[in-house]
Amino acid sequence: MKHALPLIERHTSIKETIQKIERTPFATGFLINEQGVYLGGIFLSDLRRLLISGVNAEAEVGAYPVKYTYRLEEPSLRDRARVDALLADLRLHGVNYVPVVTSIGEIQDILSADDLTSARPSELPAGQREREKRVLVVGGAGYLGSILTRKLLARGYQVRILDSFIYGRKSVEELTGNERCEIVEGDLRNIHTCVSALEGVNAVILLAAIVGDPASKVRPTETIETNVLAAQALASAAKLQHISRFVYASTCSVYGVGADLLDEQSSLNPVSLYARTKIASEDIILKMGDAYFAPTILRMGTLYGYSPRMRFDLVVNTMSMKSFTDKKIQVYGGKQWRPLLHVEDAADVYIRCVEADLKNVGNQVFNVGSNEQNYQIEEIAERVSTTLGGIPIQRDDTSLDARDYRVSFAKVHDTLGFSPQATVEQAAETIFGRLSDGTIRNPAQRIYYNHYFDATEE
Ligand SMILES: NC(=O)c1ccc[n+]([C@@H]2O[C@H](COP(=O)([O-])OP(=O)(O)OC[C@H]3O[C@@H](n4cnc5c(N)ncnc54)[C@H](O)[C@@H]3O)[C@@H](O)[C@H]2O)c1
Repeated sequence: MKHALPLIERHTSIKETIQKIERTPFATGFLINEQGVYLGGIFLSDLRRLLISGVNAEAEVGAYPVKYTYRLEEPSLRDRARVDALLADLRLHGVNYVPVVTSIGEIQDILSADDLTSARPSELPAGQREREKRVLVVGGAGYLGSILTRKLLARGYQVRILDSFIYGRKSVEELTGNERCEIVEGDLRNIHTCVSALEGVNAVILLAAIVGDPASKVRPTETIETNVLAAQALASAAKLQHISRFVYASTCSVYGVGADLLDEQSSLNPVSLYARTKIASEDIILKMGDAYFAPTILRMGTLYGYSPRMRFDLVVNTMSMKSFTDKKIQVYGGKQWRPLLHVEDAADVYIRCVEADLKNVGNQVFNVGSNEQNYQIEEIAERVSTTLGGIPIQRDDTSLDARDYRVSFAKVHDTLGFSPQATVEQAAETIFGRLSDGTIRNPAQRIYYNHYFDATEE
């Protein structure tokens, strides 16, 4: 079990220490001397603070004072009074992990406060031990973000959401009061907000953007500021603090139009400002990558499915909604190819990236979706129609959307073992259900369409 623990020999450089801790699920390193005797714990956040204060990243980590020296000898585990006293101390000082040491001080195991709370800590499977990592989700109140933050919390992460709430904050209202979730209202374009959001963070997920071709057309300046310049600022600030795990939300729209099955090496052919800004930021962020800053670019297919921040400007969602309100589905063109991805499946891929070995996902681009869900628009309409009991489809040969691309998702499947769990049919049923039962009262409200930039609910 020891190999999985962040045991740090005291002569290790700060830079290497950060890298070693980041390879584990912990946010703390456990310092040992040459004989393997435990010296004390060091938080990743403190190491990053040292770097910000100007300390040389090559300096030996053992030269700086350790934050805590809590430990438990194996026999004391059975002494409930002693364990409870230690737990009280841990909580007071915000410490979550304690090494269990032998009589000569060698680390045998590391237990979390949660492990110690239960009567038989050693029986807890490692997977159930609380994760200590804090993840920053910028854009965490959005269509994808509001699903992803809930999933991260359910897996035991601490989550900080930074969002300017362009489309309101209702999607994260029920997370208020969750002690592992911090909700920060702020604009990523503000440099101070951007840098402060990284305090104490071990992984960054950047979703915030002006999203979609119509929205970026309405607010081109804000699109460039947010999608490119703010993204660049956040990545630079993360790199300076050695926060190497940086997952960036891009889109298959970067392929624009393409006749073949397009993979990550295929040439890009953007047909909108939105896609061009995504390509620009991909490029900037990837060029920053090195052994200590290892960004992952996720080019997702068009998302679909129900979310606490609902969008009805996405193809499956629109068709499901129109089946309810208009009792018909309108198809423009219809022959264009569009890869689809359920929003819940998309969120799972981000979690895989946060948990994967950085060697496999760092400095990499992945198309995210599945080969089976590359559909032509007319097929999507047929699937929605059939699922909802044969809704009539009206066809109009004029295509309003120039995008037409079929994408290969072999890499995300092979590297991360990702296969989608959800289907267009399930999503159509759910959305239709939410409209029928009144969960969504008026799908025509502007809040459900990105290009209105409206947070008002009737
Ligand atoms: N929805 C899709 O089909 C799709 C497909 C591929 C890629 N993506 C990408 O996924 C990400 C999330 O998309 P979504 O559908 O959830 O969009 P969304 O518009 O629902 O969410 C974006 C969130 O970012 C926030 N935001 C925008 N500008 C901000 C700023 N300056 N500071 C702080 N917060 C800000 C908004 O308030 C919103 O909550 C985007 O980067 C998008 O490009 C989405």
